Parts: sequence; C-alpha cells; structure tokens
Amino acid sequence: MSNELRVAISGSGKMGRQVAAAVMAEADMFPTGYLDTLQSADVVEGLTVYRDAAAGLDAMEPDVVVDFTNAVWTPALAEVAMARGVRLVIGTTGLSSAFVERLATDCAERKVGGLVASNFALSAVLMMEFAKQAARLFDHAEIIELHHNQKVDAPSGTAKTTAEMMLLARGRDFEHADTERFTVDGARGGDLGGIAIHSVRLPGLVAHQEVIFGSLGQTLTIRQDSTGRDSFMPGVLLAVRKVMHLDRLVVGLDGILGLDRE
Ligand SMILES: NC(=O)c1ccc[n+]([C@@H]2O[C@H](COP(=O)([O-])OP(=O)(O)OC[C@H]3O[C@@H](n4cnc5c(N)ncnc54)[C@H](O)[C@@H]3O)[C@@H](O)[C@H]2O)c1
Repeated sequence: MSNELRVAISGSGKMGRQVAAAVMAEADMFPTGYLDTLQSADVVEGLTVYRDAAAGLDAMEPDVVVDFTNAVWTPALAEVAMARGVRLVIGTTGLSSAFVERLATDCAERKVGGLVASNFALSAVLMMEFAKQAARLFDHAEIIELHHNQKVDAPSGTAKTTAEMMLLARGRDFEHADTERFTVDGARGGDLGGIAIHSVRLPGLVAHQEVIFGSLGQTLTIRQDSTGRDSFMPGVLLAVRKVMHLDRLVVGLDGILGLDRE
C-alpha cells in the first residue's frame, strides 16, 4: 500500500488544472483524475475525466477531492463525496450559507474533515486578518475588489467574507456616507453592513483587493494581489494535508494557519 495521498480534482477548468499540476509536483500526493460533467474530452493533460461523480469517485478511490467548479455543482458533489467518506477541500465561491451549514453538520456527524475557503492565498488571509483588526477602530470602510473579466460572480467571495469578518469583529454596522443624487446608477457599489463593495472586472487582472478605512484626517489601505493562480496552490496543498487530520469542517484557510488568538 502506498502512503501517497490520493487527490481527485473536481473541475478541469483553470483552477482545477493548476491544482492537478501542483499535486503532481508533490512527492507525497497523487492526482487520481478529474470529475467534470461539462468536460467533453476524456483525458485532460494526461488525467482521466469522469463525468459522473459517483462512478468517478468509486473508480478513483481518492482520500480527498479538491473542488473548483461552480456553486450549482459543489453541493451535488459534496453529497456523493460525503456518502463515501471522501474529504472535501472546496475553493468554489458563491456557495450558499445554508449549504455550508449543512456540510458542517454532515462532517461533524460523520467525523470527517473538510475545508471550505473562498481564498487560498496566504496574503489574502492576512489581509482579512488585518482588516478585522482595523474594523474595530474605524467607523468607515469600503472594499474594491478587482478580478479578470471571466469571473461569473460579484462581489468576489473574498470581498464578501472580508466584509462579514469585519462586521463580526466590530459587532455593529459601519457608517455609510449617504449620496443624495446619482448621475450614474450603482456608482456607490453594493452595500453590506454599511461597507460599500465595488467590483472591477477587466482582462489582465487576476485577483486583487483593497480594503480602505477612513477616519478623521486619515485613511488606511490594505491591499492584496494574487498575480497568478499559482498563488493559491500552497494553501490548497496545505488544506489537502490538513483535512486528513480533521474530524470537522473548517471554514476559511485562517482556521488551519494557527492565527486565532482569542
Ligand atoms: N478559493 C480560491 O482561492 C479561489 C481562487 C480562484 C478561483 N476560485 C473559484 O473557483 C471556481 C472555478 O474557477 P475557475 O477559474 O477554475 O473557473 P473555470 O470556468 O475555468 O472552471 C470551472 C470548471 O467547473 C466545471 N463546472 C462548471 N459547472 C459545472 C457543473 N454544473 N457540473 C460540473 N462541473 C461544472 C467546468 O466544466 C470547468 O471545468 C470559481 O467558483 C472561482 O470563483 C476560488
């Protein structure tokens, strides 16, 4: 019996392929193949593509399945994986909180490890951590998130999570400057608890975010840039190893980095 971790990859898109390459480069891991209902090719970059999740998992017998697909597909995959005791590392964004809560209950009942993270870049996790600290001390904050123009959801999962973490740390809404007259609809962005969130979508961008805090006579800008999809891979590989030793679902990469001080 080999000691290599068997890793299945759900989604043969941009992130899935990056994960496959990253797993392949690790001495203690082995990519078993892809799960992707929408992929027409039978083989992608040397790995078999299984279109049916149940049949695919039964054939591959992975320890972990890493999912970078789509919020419609992830819950269906999770059901099939959980039924087989396969640990989930989920990077897909736009998931409903009802699904994440259900998955947490399921993992706890079965004592199976899992991780859901809207951002696997260490720099992004630290940006959220620092934003959480500043949120306690500033009454005004806005978020500008910038992504490539192929991104289907807005705002980004990271922007939403950042805002939610800031609100939780603060314990109340931020003060939101009222605009009396709009000459272009939507110019103030979305509003989450008083935090205006602005989504920029342009070719040439990867994943970037600024959290700007304002107070009397001063601003604080915390900026994070992922300049390539490879920035997510150290976090994904860490999560793959870590879920093997968990008996519950962890939400957020910060939960496995030892950052919690409270
Ligand atoms: N957590 C993170 O750090 C992080 C980083 C980058 C991207 N993402 C997220 O990962 C996801 C994928 O991003 P991407 O850039 O690889 O996208 P992509 O479009 O390149 O790939 C998506 C893949 O999912 C598959 N897919 C889509 N709908 C499906 C369905 N209904 N059934 C089965 N398969 C389906 C597609 O066939 C494709 O292979 C997105 O949700 C994105 O926001 C997360």
